[in-house]
Amino acid sequence: MPVPSDAPGSLDPLAATSPPEPRTVRDALDPVGLLDLRDPGDPAGAGDPRDPVGVRDPRDPLGLRGDAPMLAAWLDFTRQAAAGELSPMAVPGHKQRQDLVGAVIAGDAPFYGGLDTIKHADHLRAEGEARAAALWGADWCRFSVAGSTHGNQALALAVGEPGQKVIINRTLHRSLLLGLVLAGLYPVWVTPEVDPASGLPGGVAVSAVEQALGAHPDACAVFLGDPTYVGTVADLAGHAAAAHAAGVPLIVDSAWAAHLGFHPDLPPHAIAAGADAMVTSAHKALPAYTQGALVLARTERLDPARLDRAFEATHTTSPAGAIMASIDAARALLARDGEWLCGRLLRAVAAARRRLREVPGLDVLDGPGVEPTKLVVLLAGTGAHGNLVEADLIAAGMPVEMADRDTIIPIPTIADDGESIAAFTEVLITAIERNRGKPRYPAPAAAWTVRPQTVLGPREAFFASNQTVPADAAVGRVSAELIAPYPPGVPVLAPGELITAEAIAALREVAADGGRIAYAADPTLATFQVLAGY
Ligand SMILES: Cc1ncc(COP(=O)(O)O)c(C=O)c1O
Repeated sequence: MPVPSDAPGSLDPLAATSPPEPRTVRDALDPVGLLDLRDPGDPAGAGDPRDPVGVRDPRDPLGLRGDAPMLAAWLDFTRQAAAGELSPMAVPGHKQRQDLVGAVIAGDAPFYGGLDTIKHADHLRAEGEARAAALWGADWCRFSVAGSTHGNQALALAVGEPGQKVIINRTLHRSLLLGLVLAGLYPVWVTPEVDPASGLPGGVAVSAVEQALGAHPDACAVFLGDPTYVGTVADLAGHAAAAHAAGVPLIVDSAWAAHLGFHPDLPPHAIAAGADAMVTSAHKALPAYTQGALVLARTERLDPARLDRAFEATHTTSPAGAIMASIDAARALLARDGEWLCGRLLRAVAAARRRLREVPGLDVLDGPGVEPTKLVVLLAGTGAHGNLVEADLIAAGMPVEMADRDTIIPIPTIADDGESIAAFTEVLITAIERNRGKPRYPAPAAAWTVRPQTVLGPREAFFASNQTVPADAAVGRVSAELIAPYPPGVPVLAPGELITAEAIAALREVAADGGRIAYAADPTLATFQVLAGY
């Protein structure tokens, strides 16, 4: 049952210290309704040339269009389409008609030829991306409609040349490993410490990267995933200093952390910490369309023309205007209201952590090395199995990002408020109580403990001829395929790595527990694809 935020003894994090929590940013800005619909700071009200509707557009309830040129263009195009003012002899093939495949194409608008003419849309793109670059303190930015997956691969293509080494964490997302395949880069792996109490990885230590750079002075870049999938953070300023001392750029996959740096109680984002480039999924931490991501860079150590070439190499030529505009809108929201929204999220997550810790046997990941808006729920002490708890949450209409035996990872974002997070927390507790069992010690997931033996570079292995063999015969052979339990999407086996009995056992354990074995040619794990001749 949701707990009303104003109930006595409520879980609302604001209840003790402040008036009842506003439900929207507008309420926050105007808690007693004194302001006109158009707040004075918003230029996009009646009479504004960018608001042809003439009044606040209900499709832009917080009045972001004045600072979001792509959003403004999307609002204009879709308004025209809805009014029947457009008869395009151009793609998309649905021609804005919803009487064929139906509402599934509602709001679709091509960036090129929709949000602006094909010949002029690059100006619109540059304007929106420049605003994002300025907000993050970068001097190069691109919006991707293909997620951090594309951003990671673009950044891999933006450094060095085939055959060069990069220092990189092995707890990386599979997209970056495949970036190494595309770019022909050789990994020099660094690994984080795994906390025995939680079985979860911390951030990579600066000393580990320094050591790797010392042993491989020919490396051309350092790539790190930070925050980690479980929200632990490394000393990025220290990593930037170490990389720069070695004369190479630091590139950070911050897929989960588009909100970092926008509140004094949050860690700085990677660019602010000194990184040369970062990728982040606008669709993960921000209220943006699925697939929306930002790639941001400083160009002291990275060439902007090469970054553009690398980005374009694998990006679609037909980006969806709605995705692009939603990144622009999320950026405008973050710029204007980010601190307030992040503050609300910080308080709500802190309250949820406190509440969860009151439950016997239950714990959460916490402490100075943990991103404070992350909620990582540690189940081992309750004996509840994470997959069963997840099933109850799905049945309650509250799916989470990740669940395995010992861990549940919901994703609270700035779109949540104290009420929604408190309500989730109570449903989670009920689900845990329903599935309680004998307390156990947590077992670190294979993703966090994998220590690969690389026999062949990822690119060579990816393109080498291969064969399919039964699992028993695969031990001691070299993997042709990437296999990752998903989430978190960290490869347990990657092209060019020795297949060990431990790796197969770890994958089987995940599968037996109901986990998804992604990207394997044979997800039953009865057979494996191995390199012929190795
Ligand atoms: C660390 C990390 N990097 C990159 C990605 C890829 O992000 P996207 O889904 O936006 O392509 C993910 C996805 O979960 C991730 O966890």
